[in-house]
This record gives sequence, C-alpha cells and structure tokens, in this order.
Amino acid sequence: MLSIRRMTFEDLDDVIGIENSVFGNPWSRTAFESILNHDCFVLIDGEKIAGYICCICVLDECSISNVAITPGSQGKGFGNWLMKSMMQNMKEHGINVFYLEVRRSNERALFLYEKLGFRWLAIRKNYYINPQEDAIVMAYAFDPGFFRQTTWTADEGL
Ligand SMILES: CC(C)(COP(=O)(O)OP(=O)(O)OC[C@H]1O[C@@H](n2cnc3c(N)ncnc32)[C@H](O)[C@@H]1OP(=O)(O)O)[C@@H](O)C(=O)NCCC(=O)NCCS
Repeated sequence: MLSIRRMTFEDLDDVIGIENSVFGNPWSRTAFESILNHDCFVLIDGEKIAGYICCICVLDECSISNVAITPGSQGKGFGNWLMKSMMQNMKEHGINVFYLEVRRSNERALFLYEKLGFRWLAIRKNYYINPQEDAIVMAYAFDPGFFRQTTWTADEGL
C-alpha cells in the first residue's frame, strides 16, 4: 500500500540514498536539512521509502525543488501518484501555481509533468552540470487565468 507523510531527519539516510542513485549532481545532506522545514514529503511503499518530493511554498505559489522515485520502483505510476497527491493537498492549503525545472533530456519526467498539465515557461541555457544541459522551466496552475496573466501590454504597465 502506498502512503505519503512529511519527511523527517530520520528519513534522510534513505532519501539521500535514493538521491545519490538517481542524480548526477545530487543534493548534499546539508541541502536536505535546510529544506526540511519547508514542505518535504516521503512516499512509503509498505514499510519502505520509495520516493520523495520537496517544495518551497510562498503565498499561493509552490516551487518543486526535488522529486525522485527509487530506481526499482520507477515506471509503475508512483511518481504520478506522488505529484498528484501532493498538488491536491497543496491546493487544499491555498496553493494555485507550481513551478519546476527539468533537464531537457529527462523524457520520463517531461512526459509525466506534461501529462499532469504542466506547461513550458522558459529554457535556462546550461543550467545543469554533470552533465551540462539546459533546464526546461515548467508551471502548472489550478486557475488557468494564471497563464493569461503572464503577458502584459505597455499601456497597462507604464
Ligand atoms: C521522473 C520520476 C519522478 C517519474 O516517476 P515514475 O514513478 O518513474 O513515473 P510514473 O511511472 O508515475 O510515470 C511515468 C510516465 O512516463 C512514461 N514513461 C516512462 N519512460 C518514459 C520515457 N523514456 N519517455 C517518455 N515517457 C516515459 C510512463 O509510461 C508513464 O506514463 P503513463 O502513466 O502514461 O504510462 C522518476 O522516474 C525518477 O525519480 N527519475 C529519476 C529522478 C528524476 O529524474 N527526477 C525528476 C527531476 S526533474
């Protein structure tokens, strides 16, 4: 059975184990410690941590900093369920918009985010290292009016 709960300090060994196994430039323990007092959740499969997601939320916006599923559990719908559940939970706490960055070559993640309704906002050239690569900046909004508000004409702004 799958469940989600808040990440704690005691989870960090398992979380860092997953982080090191899936990313070429993994976050350090210090980085996880500093984001723990924001919104970090672990995905539990039975008794074990199968994945995690970390976000920083301000007002009605949430920036997804980190999401991963342990290699043996990828491709089974876990990432989809973790993202969807977290976003629904955040919506109930007043969040409207989510942002994230993803490597241009990360087809599985891009597919998942697009399936969830994220849209491309921008490309950050050479944003990533190990290996160097562009980042696609994506956003999702529960209120579709958000995307209409992202362009302005001069007479509104000067
Ligand atoms: C990206 C990640 C979080 C997705 O979680 P997951 O549990 O593996 O993904 P899911 O099984 O929920 O869904 C993946 C979807 O992508 C599809 N998919 C799988 N491999 C794919 C590929 N190479 N190209 C395109 N789509 C792919 C799956 O078919 C599935 O779609 P479906 O539900 O319509 O069949 C996970 O694979 C992961 O941790 N990867 C390594 C770390 C990472 O890249 N994190 C994201 C950083 S931005």
